[in-house]
Amino acid sequence: MKNICVVGTGYVGLVTGACFANLGNRVACLDIDDAKIKRLRAGELPIYEPGLDTLVERNTRAGRLRFTTDYAEAVAGADFIFIAVNTPTIAGGAGADMSYVEAAARSIATHLRNDAVIINKSTMPVGSGDLVSTIVHEHLTIPTLNVAVVSNPEFLSEGFAVRDFQHPDRVVLGSVDRAAAQRVAELYLPLRAPIVITDLYTAEMIKYASNAFLATKISFINEIARICDLLGADVKEVAAGMGYDQRIGNKMLNAGLGYGGSCFPKDVKALAHMADEAGLHPQLLDAVMKINQDQRRVAIEKLAMELGGPDSLRDKTIAVLGLAFKDNTDDMREAPAIDIINWLIEAGAEVRAYDPVAVETAQKLYPDWQVTYCENEYDTARGCDGVILVTEWKQFHDLDLERLHDVMRGDEKGPVFIDGRNFFDPAQVEQMGFRYHGIGRGKARRKSVQHRTAPAEQPSTVPGER
Ligand code: UGA
Repeated sequence: MKNICVVGTGYVGLVTGACFANLGNRVACLDIDDAKIKRLRAGELPIYEPGLDTLVERNTRAGRLRFTTDYAEAVAGADFIFIAVNTPTIAGGAGADMSYVEAAARSIATHLRNDAVIINKSTMPVGSGDLVSTIVHEHLTIPTLNVAVVSNPEFLSEGFAVRDFQHPDRVVLGSVDRAAAQRVAELYLPLRAPIVITDLYTAEMIKYASNAFLATKISFINEIARICDLLGADVKEVAAGMGYDQRIGNKMLNAGLGYGGSCFPKDVKALAHMADEAGLHPQLLDAVMKINQDQRRVAIEKLAMELGGPDSLRDKTIAVLGLAFKDNTDDMREAPAIDIINWLIEAGAEVRAYDPVAVETAQKLYPDWQVTYCENEYDTARGCDGVILVTEWKQFHDLDLERLHDVMRGDEKGPVFIDGRNFFDPAQVEQMGFRYHGIGRGKARRKSVQHRTAPAEQPSTVPGER
């Protein structure tokens, strides 16, 4: 059993703390936010993360997990101190705001009374390990202490963070002090995952490169989706066909409304910024970001096109299904829903919205007079001219399309259904009376081909030909 302190009780800090406690360690989770710690002590979680409540409850009860605002108490006797505080993008800039990390490093150093390893868990610019080490060594109250800094990037995806912690694809550790990295590795041994031990800068870079690669896959498939729309192919089947190739893999190839969240947008931007500062113009990363930004617009363009052109959204009522940046979370940071709602409001549309868990988050961005929040999908679609499925909540797979159609208004051509996550079979939704658009389902071309081959006596396809 090791003594661990985790600084920061965001989703990374809380999941790390609770999961290490669950592995049998004694963990103190520290945050300077008094209100948050009070809630945690009362058994209330400040975030929605499936499975975390049970872990927190079980380990708090067993005396392995505690919450505090007191550095002296949390750091005393800790062998390992994880820094898991926020590193947001600097307001109006692209670099990371390191002020929370710097403050945490100073406080840890002044309260440390024993040798310890400090582990950078937050995503920090390459070189931050050195920064933390310098700050700590400058502020140690007992200068003779042996304190090493190890980078241990997290690869937790929101909504699945507990599972990702307990079954990691790999654990990455980087340090100038290899022995310290090996001591941290021991904490992870029960998880039986491959452990990569490397230098500090490389570990920090592995995190950025991993997120940038996954974001690139998403922007890639979104660009392919746009091409599919024009050429008449179906991107869902294209992705499935590509995914069987093990060199490509079938993950992160869902075309949609682009990536959001607190990680990909921030990390791709930060990596591009680091490259720029080092004198290299990051062409691919720039394209990834541009495609992602444009992708959100696709939903609005398709909707406006169906409703009669760019100005057609004025006085229309639109249902937005899903507000969180993805399923299984109440997080709306950089969520596609934000841009979509902004554009709808700007265009003069009335917005009704539903999300299984993110409504409270949304209400902080859009008060009730701006957006009408509803109890379920059908209540949301009531009287609407169009619906946009924005978030990939699994429950939207089970939408009763007939019921949805019945409550919507739409003109003689029927209400519009924009499937921003390609959940549905286009033909099935059209059969229910909707005007359906997915992302990259090849509809534009197929429609125009149908027009050109309209005379009844002409077969629309020649056997054996596409
Ligand atoms: C991401 C990474 O997946 C984690 O490995 C990483 O640790 C984390 O960032 C982080 O740096 O902290 P997360 O942002 O929680 O995790 O969410 P993802 O599941 O990766 O999804 C990100 C965005 O991409 C979502 O908006 C999602 O809707 C979108 N996405 C994902 C797609 O549009 N298509 C896909 O095929 C997959």
